[in-house]
Amino acid sequence: MKAKRNRNNGDVCVLGSINQDVVALVAELPRPGETVVARRVTHYPGGKGANQALAAARMGARTLMIGATGADEAGNVMRAFLQDNGVDTAMVESNPRQPTGQAFINVSAAGENAIVIAAGANATLTAAAIRPEKLAGCGIFLAQLESPVETVKTLFSGAPARRGITILNAAPALPEGAGLFSLTDILVLNESELGAYAQLPEAPTEVEGAITGARKLIGRDGPAVIVTLGEKGAVVVEREQSELIPGRRAQVTDTTGAGDCFCGTLAAALAEGYVLNEAARFAALAASLSVERAGAATSIPTRAEVEKLEVPTTAPSSANASGQTGRRQ
Ligand code: ATP
Ligand code: RIB
Repeated sequence: MKAKRNRNNGDVCVLGSINQDVVALVAELPRPGETVVARRVTHYPGGKGANQALAAARMGARTLMIGATGADEAGNVMRAFLQDNGVDTAMVESNPRQPTGQAFINVSAAGENAIVIAAGANATLTAAAIRPEKLAGCGIFLAQLESPVETVKTLFSGAPARRGITILNAAPALPEGAGLFSLTDILVLNESELGAYAQLPEAPTEVEGAITGARKLIGRDGPAVIVTLGEKGAVVVEREQSELIPGRRAQVTDTTGAGDCFCGTLAAALAEGYVLNEAARFAALAASLSVERAGAATSIPTRAEVEKLEVPTTAPSSANASGQTGRRQ
C-alpha cells in the first residue's frame, strides 16, 4: 500500500465484541449427537470486534475500540493484548456483573470451524460507551453484530459516523441487522450471510450468484457490498459495476477470523484514502495470510508481511474500479 498514501480519511473506530476463544483441534467437526476427542485445546484472544481492531492497528491505522469485557482475568488479558497492539481501549468498558465473552471453537484438520458464542459482557454494551469527544479524529467506523444492534445504530447515526465512512460486517446474520443497511456505506458479508439477508433459496457458491444476491441488497440506494468467497477471494459489488478480487493460493491451517482480518485491513486501507477495490485487494491478501496460521487474532499478519506478497494478477470478472472510497453520496 506504500505508494498510494494520497489521502487521509482519519482514524479507525471499531465497535464490537471481545472474546476469549477456547479452541479445540479435532480431526473432524462433530455431527449432531456425536462426541469427538480434541487433539489439543488452546485459549486465544478473539471476538470479531477485537480481531478487526487488531487487524486495522497492525496495518498501521490509528485505531480506537468501543466494547465491553467482564471485570475478570480474561477481560484484563484482552485489554492488555489490544493495548500492546496499539489499539486505544479508552472506550472498552469493564462490567463487574458479567463475564468476558467466550467463543467455543472446534477446528477440524481441514481448517473448517464451528463456533458457539457466550456473549457475556458483549451483550451489555450500550451507547453510554460511545464518547463523541474521542471520535473527532475518526473517519472510518466499523462494526459487526456480536454487539447489540441498537448500539451500532447509535454509533452509525451519530454525527462523526455520518461525516465518515461506515462499514458493517453484518455477522453473524441477524434479521434486525438489515435495519442498519440504510446507515451503512460498505456492507461486508460472506456467502451464507448474503444468502440470509438477500433471502436467497440457498447461499451462492459462485461469483455470479454472489453478484446477483449483492445487487438485490443494493437495490436503488443500498450500500456497496463486498461478498467474501473464502479461497475464491472476494467480489466488490456496486450499483453499476463489480470486480472479483481473486484469492491468493494459501496453505490453510485455520480459517477462523479470516473475515475479521479482511474487514480490519479494509478499514485501515480506506483510512489511508484507498479506493474501495484497491482496499479490498489488500484486505484479501492479508486475509489469505491469516488462514495459514492458528487462532483468530493471533493469525493476523503485520503490514510488512502483507506488503511482501505480490498482488494477484488474475483478470477481474469485470474490471471497473470505481475510483470512489465507498462513501455514500
Ligand atoms: P471466517 O468466518 O472463517 O472468519 P468468513 O466466512 O467471514 O471467514 P471468508 O470468505 O471465508 O470469510 O474469508 C474472508 C477472506 O479471507 C476471503 O475473502 C479471502 O480473501 C480470505 N480467505 C479465506 N479463506 C481462504 C483460503 N482458503 N485461501 C486464501 N484466502 C482465503
Ligand atoms: O470471527 C471469528 C471470531 O468469532 C472468533 O474470534 C470468535 O470469538 C467469534 O467471535
